[in-house]
Amino acid sequence: MTQDELKTLVGQAALQYVIPGEIVGVGTGSTVNKFIDALATMKAQISGAVSSSVASTARLQALGIPVFEANAVGELSVYIDGADEIDAQGFMIKGGGAALTREKIVAAQSRRFVCIADDTKMVKALGAFPLPVEVIPMSSARLVRQFEALGGKAQIRLKDGVPLVTDNGQHILDVTGLHITDPLGFESMVNQWPGVVTVGVFAHQRAHVCLLGTASGVKTLTF
Ligand code: 5RP
Repeated sequence: MTQDELKTLVGQAALQYVIPGEIVGVGTGSTVNKFIDALATMKAQISGAVSSSVASTARLQALGIPVFEANAVGELSVYIDGADEIDAQGFMIKGGGAALTREKIVAAQSRRFVCIADDTKMVKALGAFPLPVEVIPMSSARLVRQFEALGGKAQIRLKDGVPLVTDNGQHILDVTGLHITDPLGFESMVNQWPGVVTVGVFAHQRAHVCLLGTASGVKTLTF
């Protein structure tokens, strides 16, 4: 099975976690796009979605799924999103699609985080994938030095030769060379650095379930 087929498989499998009549939290990325396409087949049975990005909102609305503002609704029962890395505790690195801040907000608003991923995303320890960090632009040079002090190398993410601007009007640093042995502690520490909007370690907002696409089908991991 190709990686794309595995993404389709887990995107469809996530439908079992959608509760009829409710509003579902929706992440961002190529795996979530498969979930959104699958969700459209049951759109008459749900009230709508809270979205984590401009891109997911556009896809949901194009398929006729109503999108609500996060502030307009209460707690969600489930949030479905992909990951760049996930470990055996359900801790993740996210933000490869630059949507990490809104993803963390909608995850925090949800009782259960269901991660959908192909098996290339499963890792023993977080950190091989460059860690995305959304930052206020005027803080980026100092934050590059702070990551250097930890042994990391941070680079501003570019798009068409200029710094990428997130849905929130900020920049992304991608940090390589980190060994994240204590995801909860690391997330708490970096979150406090002035200028950091969101660090792409999802440990406090870890996954509760992971639907992992493998050659032999969907494996359900619970944490
Ligand atoms: C976007 C994300 C995505 O969930 C993550 O990058 C995985 O994306 P994909 O499903 O395309 O591999 O965190 O900010």
